[in-house]
Amino acid sequence: MCGIVGYTGPREAYPVLIKGLKRLEYRGYDSSGVALLSDGDLNVYKKKGKVAELEESVLGKDLSGTIGIGHTRWATHGEPSDRNAHPHYSQSGRLAMIHNGIIENYAQLKQDLLVKGYSFKSDTDTEVLLNFIEDIRSNNNCSLEEALRIALKRIVGAYCILLISDDDPDTILAARKGSPLVIGIGKGEHFLASDASPIIEYTKEVVYVNDYQIAVVRPDELILKNLGNERETPFITKLDMELAAIEKGGYEHFMLKEIYEQPDTIFDCLRGRLLTQSGQIMMGGIENNLNAFINAPRIIIVACGTSWHAGLVAEYLIEDLCRIPVEVEYASEFRYRNPVINQGDLIIAISQSGETADTLVALESAREKGAFIFGVVNAVGSSIARLSHAGAYTHSGPEIGVASTKAFTGQLAVLMMMALKIGHAKGTLDEARYLRLMNDLATVPEKVKEILQDTANIKRIAEKYKDASDFLFLGRGYNFPVALEGALKLKEISYIHAEGYPAAEMKHGPIALVDEKLPVVFVATRDSYYEKIVSNVQEIKARKGKVICVATMGDEIIPGMADDVMFVPDADEVIAPLLSVVPLQLLSYYAGLAKGYDVDKPRNLAKSVTVE
Ligand code: AGP
Ligand code: GLU
Repeated sequence: MCGIVGYTGPREAYPVLIKGLKRLEYRGYDSSGVALLSDGDLNVYKKKGKVAELEESVLGKDLSGTIGIGHTRWATHGEPSDRNAHPHYSQSGRLAMIHNGIIENYAQLKQDLLVKGYSFKSDTDTEVLLNFIEDIRSNNNCSLEEALRIALKRIVGAYCILLISDDDPDTILAARKGSPLVIGIGKGEHFLASDASPIIEYTKEVVYVNDYQIAVVRPDELILKNLGNERETPFITKLDMELAAIEKGGYEHFMLKEIYEQPDTIFDCLRGRLLTQSGQIMMGGIENNLNAFINAPRIIIVACGTSWHAGLVAEYLIEDLCRIPVEVEYASEFRYRNPVINQGDLIIAISQSGETADTLVALESAREKGAFIFGVVNAVGSSIARLSHAGAYTHSGPEIGVASTKAFTGQLAVLMMMALKIGHAKGTLDEARYLRLMNDLATVPEKVKEILQDTANIKRIAEKYKDASDFLFLGRGYNFPVALEGALKLKEISYIHAEGYPAAEMKHGPIALVDEKLPVVFVATRDSYYEKIVSNVQEIKARKGKVICVATMGDEIIPGMADDVMFVPDADEVIAPLLSVVPLQLLSYYAGLAKGYDVDKPRNLAKSVTVE
């Protein structure tokens, strides 16, 4: 998500903070800011855009102070803007705070504070948490640390926060749950950051703060406590990574890091929305427009590339669970083929960046013709998000690798929740299947983690076939779009030509391609098409094709037929794409690696295609 830095010690804080924020730019962000405390004056400077623009904006300002906090924001609540950037002042102006994460119950907290007369300068959940802390301190007449402890016990969500107060000239209060925090131990000084990259040039001795811990940090003191106010011993470790490795979280590439982030990013996407205890799916964008969905005569899905593949999965989901006709359109074609769009048509736009020109232009024209636009976007406040009448963010965090991986599974998770919610509301999805699918979806983060535990086999398969000139990727039903996505991943990362097809389509021509040199990847997890896809595997084997299968753990038929198998845990076919795509992401990553290519920045490609 975003970047956090803090400093308290003998140095001027501003240079340490700015340099630290620049070290964290690789994480992706939309705005930045710093707060400095000097002789009781709490100065906050913040700006939408790059850190360099923040630097420009503070020229000539009072940048004194030996204690400060800094932030690069990846917006989740409130579009990117100067006022939504962090740090935030509390209502009294005496506190300043930065935050990484999402406060799920911020709306209720905000409502309670508004009733008490609080006002808010931003749309963020962060400012709500800060005023909640201030309200507790003034009502209970307790220390800021105690107020923080009380507040953290009553909020729901993920946080890493740094908090300073004008009446405590050298103390930074910090706390974390779900978002990382590292504290560097200097001589008479302490450095705080989201990861070690801003710290390593000053010290290699660090403490990784754990979930539910509060840190009281002064120049010559670091106290760790749990939320029960009991002291805990800081465990000091010595950094052994170089800067480049730290930025990638110890992974060799951003793409691999982002593949491994998927258990967390899928969990973040489901967080606060998929409530299996109560059997509810909370999606405001759907809730507030439920009739538009229930009564939609048809749904048109518009996207590009990997997002288009997510749209294909959504077609199967929505037609299966909601019984609404769906058309999936390449945005670039949809825009120019003079499509029939009627008032009340419902369009779902899927985009990681929210800036893809083909998709944006398609939506502008559809909106002019009266369509209702629902955006499934990762980048908060992006052009497509702002053009949409309603939407749902995937909360996948910044995706640095050009190849879309965690954003794709974030899109699928949102689309699955959407189809479940609409189908249940419409009555086309019975209660038993609805609850079963909800619970199956909730298990996905753990199941993805299980796939990622041992990827040596996938690496071996990638290296075995890396010199092939062509690949076929085949699947049926919900796994057909996954086959297409696997082919795209291999093309864009290893530059090997690959095509995706419905498995049954082979006999209508493409099977002429099959010979002993052609690797054919089947997405063959246990589902209602299983027997048929086994037959398709046999068709390829009979023609000496090399068969690589994604199969369900425990399957005893496929391993006896395939040359190589990549296993995934069992799941309902509706949910299976979230699992079956992961081995294919890794297959393309390891193939590109084996061929010595830049897997984070493949040739000819851009992360966001902002030209038509
Ligand atoms: C996916 O790996 C590619 N990077 C590309 O196909 C991408 O999905 C496409 O350009 C759409 O981008 P968007 O999701 O940001 O709109
Ligand atoms: N949820 C907070 C916001 O939207 C913090 C986002 C972040 O982690 O950068 O401002």
